Parts: sequence; structure tokens; C-alpha cells
Amino acid sequence: MKVVLAYSGGLDTSICIKWLMDEYDAEVITLTLNLGQDETDLKKIEEKAKKLGAVKTISLDARAEFIKQYINPSIKANGLYQKTYPLSTALGRPLIAKHLVEVANKQGAECISHGSTGKGNDQVRFELAVRALNPDLNIIAPAREWDLTRDSAIDYAKKHNISVSVGKKNPYSIDVNLWGRSIEAGPLEELTSRPDENIYEWTTSPVKAPDEPKKIVLGFERGLPISLDGVRLDELDLIKKLNKLGGKHGIGRIDTIEDRLVGIKSREIYECPGAKIILYAHYELEKLTLSREQINFKQMVESKWSQMVYYGLWHEPLKNDLDFFIEHTQDTVSGEIGLILYKGNIINASRKSPHSLYDKGLATYELGDRFNHRLAEGFIRLWGLPSEIAARKRKK
Ligand code: ARG
Repeated sequence: MKVVLAYSGGLDTSICIKWLMDEYDAEVITLTLNLGQDETDLKKIEEKAKKLGAVKTISLDARAEFIKQYINPSIKANGLYQKTYPLSTALGRPLIAKHLVEVANKQGAECISHGSTGKGNDQVRFELAVRALNPDLNIIAPAREWDLTRDSAIDYAKKHNISVSVGKKNPYSIDVNLWGRSIEAGPLEELTSRPDENIYEWTTSPVKAPDEPKKIVLGFERGLPISLDGVRLDELDLIKKLNKLGGKHGIGRIDTIEDRLVGIKSREIYECPGAKIILYAHYELEKLTLSREQINFKQMVESKWSQMVYYGLWHEPLKNDLDFFIEHTQDTVSGEIGLILYKGNIINASRKSPHSLYDKGLATYELGDRFNHRLAEGFIRLWGLPSEIAARKRKK
């Protein structure tokens, strides 16, 4: 039996190779994608897979696709789960699933496999996406079947000579891509203590961030970031730059309680400097260029969109419908947002857009005010009329 395994080179998926061979007598084909996780050496990962017994190893750079098809729709959607999490891991899973299916179809494999456990969201995201793209493929989730704790997984790895950077002293589960770093488990499960400083790799502690504030200007075109300080940049460079710069200034640390799809609440830590800055600036620009009704209605759509992505419903037809709505709102979302990065804070510095709906003549309290104050009186009476009628009725 041929199985295509989503292989990161980490502890869990390394164990999966051995386990699939032992339990299923499988010919394991590994697939590794570069989604912008740090220092991805795809060749090294392939070598490791070969050493562990993979019959074929495939790797590819999917960063451009990740940005275009997954990150960009999320920027336009102001994608945040429960108003907090920029969906970094959630966005990567359907892309990995897509490539798993493509490789399986090409290699004539009847089965795909992933290293997610039975407790998380990632299993759902992988499997829903795979089933949406090729419902005939079987799915094996070793980590769900073997039911290993993190400690026993480490022991299994040691027994099978699998080199792991995770020790019992470093018991975190980490997922990284261009849009952020997710850190879970271990000491983080204790809600009354703050995370150890050494779990952070992308961000300086705000306390130790530079005393000098950093001013930046982000340019957008139709809802997407295109320039930094007036210089047009490839979006990959732009996100990488903002991850670095934001990280240096302590931006993008998130410590949150999150409702997983499987019903449990969990403590999650994220580092998402670039995502935080871009999403912040994007929403600032929308507040300048979209109508009040668009902004207020879009919030409902965004919240639903983010939930669907978090819950693995990437291919659900409704999500596609929401994408069309969101896309249509972005026509006027062009302009420049100036921000100051300072010790973990993002501070507004300037706003500019050819589509700005801000009218100083209407907004001003100074001379030159064109707002007709008299109209306000009648407006208020009529606006409140339904409540007034109800109140009068109650009084009787
Ligand atoms: N809680 C986040 C999510 O569901 C992050 C998951 C991180 N995955 C991991 N294997 N550490 O999207």
C-alpha cells in the first residue's frame, strides 16, 4: 500500500514514517512543503525521511501559493478567530491537503496520512480538505491511533533512533509558517503562569524592545499590501520584513484561550508580528474607505469566514460565497497607512487614500463646518420614533 504522508521533519511526523511501515506495511512517500517556516532546508528533511525508510520523498516551495490563495483572502477578510488568532496554522492545512491529494493522484497512492492528534483542529482541516478534493482517498492518522502522550512519543522516537530536537525539557508543540508561529502544550497548560521567555523565537519581549519608536508606511492596493515606506515589494519579502521588524519591536505576541472545534478550551501562544501589522493597517484603511454599512455588515461576514477557516470548512460552498462578498468590498481599499511600532504597540501615525470617505468639512468643529446641525433635530425625532411610540404605549 502506498501512503503519502505530510512530513515536516519534526518529532511526530518522523515517528509516523516508522509507524506506517510497521503497522500497515506501507510504502511511505513523504511530502514536505515550504510555507515559510524558518530555515526550511527541504533537502535535509528529505534526507531524514529517506533515512527513516521513505520510498520516495517530495518537497516543494509553496510560499507564493500560500500567500496568493490563502493569506491574501484572509487579509481581505480581516481573518481572526475569536477576534484574536490570525489563523496562521489554520490557513496552511488546506494547502498541505491539496498537495497531498495531488501527489497521491500522481503517484497512484490510495491513502494519505498526517501526524495530527485526535485532540486538535488540524486533523479536521486536513481530512475535510482531502475529502473535498478526492473523496476516494483513505486517510490514516497514526497519532490518533497510537494514542501516545508527548513523553511516550519521545520515548518511541528514541527507541527507533529518530533524532528529535524536542526533549522532555522542551515539551511544546509548535507549528510555523510565514503567517505565524503557534506554540501549545507543556507548561502553557497552566493558566496561572506566564509563558517562559524562551518559547519565543520571532519576537523580542516588549520590555526589551528598542526605546526608539519605528515609523513605517504600508501601502495597499485593493485590499492587499504592496509597499513598505514607498518601496514596492514582492509580498513574500514584505511579510518577511514585517515579521522581522515587528518582532524586533515586540509586536505580535498573543496569549489566548481558544475554543477548539473538538469542544475543548485550550491555551495558545502565537507570534504573528507581520500578520498583526498587516491586519491592523488593512482594517484602518477599510475604516477610511468603506461605508459605515459595509464595515458593520462585513464584520459579521468576517467572523463567520474566520470560524469556517478555523473549523476546516475551506471548501464548504458558503465560504466561497463569503469570499465573493469580501472580494467585492475591496475595490476601494487602496492607500497608505502610517504606523509606529513601539514596544509591542502599533500606533496610528497617518492615513491616506484616493477613496477616503473622510470629509473634513463635515467632520470639523471649527470654521468651515458644512454639516447642517438643524437637520439633526428632526433626524433624532424620527430615528427614535418607534421606541417613543412603544414607550408611550407602555406608560398607558
Ligand atoms: N490552535 C491553533 C489552531 O488550531 C494552532 C495549532 C497549532 N498546531 C500544532 N501542531 N502545534 O490553528
